[in-house]
Amino acid sequence: MNRIEGRVKVTGLATYAAEFPVKGVTYAYAVQSRIAKGRIARVDGGAALAMPGVLAVLSCEEPPEVAEDAGPELALFQSREVAYRGQIVAAVVADTYEDARAAAAVVRVEYEPGDHDVTLRADHPGLYKPEVVNPNYPTDTEKGDVEAGLAEAVTSVDVTYTTPVEHNNPMEPHAALALWDEEGRLLVYDTAQGTSGSRDTIAKTLGLPSERVRVVSRHVGGGFGAKGSTRPQAVLAALAARAVGRPVKIALTRQQMFDVTGYRTPTIQRLRLGADERGRLTAVDHVAYEQSSTLVEFAEQTTTPTRVMYATPALRTAHRLVRLDVATPSWMRAPGECPGMYALESAMDELAYAAGIDPVELRVLNDADTEPETGLPFSSRNLVACLREGARRFGWEHRESAPGRIREGDWMGGTGVAASTYPARRSPCQAVATVRDGDFLIRVAAADIGTGARTVLTRIAAGTLGVAPERVHVELGDSDLPYAPVAGGSMGTASWGSAVVRACEELRKDGKEGRADTTEEIKGDARLARHAFGAQFAEVRVNSVTGEIRVTRLLGVFAAGHIMDAKLARSQFIGGMTMGLGMALMEETFTDEEFGGFLRRDLAQYHIPACADVPDIEVAWVDEQDDDLNPMGSKGIGEIGIVGTAAAIGNAVHHATGHRIRDLPITPGKILALRFAPGG
Ligand code: MOS
Repeated sequence: MNRIEGRVKVTGLATYAAEFPVKGVTYAYAVQSRIAKGRIARVDGGAALAMPGVLAVLSCEEPPEVAEDAGPELALFQSREVAYRGQIVAAVVADTYEDARAAAAVVRVEYEPGDHDVTLRADHPGLYKPEVVNPNYPTDTEKGDVEAGLAEAVTSVDVTYTTPVEHNNPMEPHAALALWDEEGRLLVYDTAQGTSGSRDTIAKTLGLPSERVRVVSRHVGGGFGAKGSTRPQAVLAALAARAVGRPVKIALTRQQMFDVTGYRTPTIQRLRLGADERGRLTAVDHVAYEQSSTLVEFAEQTTTPTRVMYATPALRTAHRLVRLDVATPSWMRAPGECPGMYALESAMDELAYAAGIDPVELRVLNDADTEPETGLPFSSRNLVACLREGARRFGWEHRESAPGRIREGDWMGGTGVAASTYPARRSPCQAVATVRDGDFLIRVAAADIGTGARTVLTRIAAGTLGVAPERVHVELGDSDLPYAPVAGGSMGTASWGSAVVRACEELRKDGKEGRADTTEEIKGDARLARHAFGAQFAEVRVNSVTGEIRVTRLLGVFAAGHIMDAKLARSQFIGGMTMGLGMALMEETFTDEEFGGFLRRDLAQYHIPACADVPDIEVAWVDEQDDDLNPMGSKGIGEIGIVGTAAAIGNAVHHATGHRIRDLPITPGKILALRFAPGG
């Protein structure tokens, strides 16, 4: 299907959070900490208050009231302690955005700075083992005897990979518009991946009952996880609006987004793999080191995909975390699976070369019949089919097996493969289906963050009702609608779609209205391992003189249940793979070790792939019949596209150059450091 909101988006009529027209609106602009650690001695807003149009200066000098149990990231202006450089320490509210921004520049904040530590190291003395990793997985797992498995291995690798801080960078900046009505009810137009959850978080932060808060996000210009939890702009707009007694709008600048909307934790990952004489794994050991802030423990689940990928008698996974004077990391497309699979799939490639086995065959050989960590049966697993179909489409059989052999003048050529995986979950959701003017109205607080959620839910409802999609109208993006979980964890369609199917089934019985709540249904789901799988193939050209790396072909083949809509799915996979290409070659935010905070806080310096970087992406899928997922038989597709892409490209760079670059991104500088002779 074409996107239902496509026309309003391309004609500029779609209304994003900062664009709702409101009378008497004022503007807030945040003042950010210039130190990475320490105490705020004094905030002097006098000069700012004297500037034209300025209505208020908010800071810890007169902290606005929030709930006692508000989370430390959203409890704005409550503490004098500074946890990271860039933290919001004050804000100016004024009649215009320009006035607010100009006045914010003259707010004087005096600090008592402390000594900061912003550097992740695998030998950091502050490393510890968190209780669980996100969202609720065991931190460490161990099955069999890993050391014995490694000792008996005929071939083994012991390699360490690093991945940098990366930022989500959705096109629409984080923005919010807050209005209080006379009864003290709060309305926030926000950029949120879920309005039900955002409403609850804002209410909890402000100490209000949930019924007194409404969050509306009709259109969201991307999130990739950065809008998956409530960010400070929503709370700041609400506090500022209460302070000045008028509506307040705030839109973060791109630079501010780098500071306060989350990022992907950097990782250091050590992989030890052992294999017998035939290439069967004898042991897998995967340890990840990552960071969080001093405010909140955000423990990313980096090694969890290793628990589901390959059959092995001995498997150990572990996570260690250190709390630094940095902003709290947050969700970024396939958090955990993405960096974890980069390391595992790169190490598998190293093992393939060490053992003299084709990288596709090594993966096929070690495919798992049951989930390696738990022994649970898979609801469906078609990794081998993806590898085989990908190899066929890519022309893998004609591949030169030895690395560093393909040369054309200054250009070296290579190809690589990597596997993908992502969990297939769903969570409880409500929906209501009614008849309206002879058509059908579906109401659910789902979020369309650019994925096509409106469109796919329309299709799902139409299919269940047995009517044309034109007769179905889906209303979403409003917390006053029936409760829905976040557009995250690749479970939006599975969760919302389940409720929509059930509501439509009820409507068919009743004729007037169908209501659904899938809480009980989901509790009854059988205990099975549910995951999507995929295989990605990359072809690169690497210039020995300039260090330039060009991805000339990318192919992804995915097994993600029943694909609900070919057009939407293809876009999702391409989007994920493009983001994976960025991870492989470009994306990196530097930490400023001297002053704290981040360097490269804009799109001029933080590079993401543009059209010219993405010449040829092919997407295909193996349609699965899996009745153990949800009424649609679908697995999530929002995140698996980014999983494995960076490894496939890195493996292709190795195949082209004969060298392993084990820290992302693989930039021209790192190629030049290999010192190739020009021309061959
Ligand atoms: Mo996505 S990172 O699960 O919002």
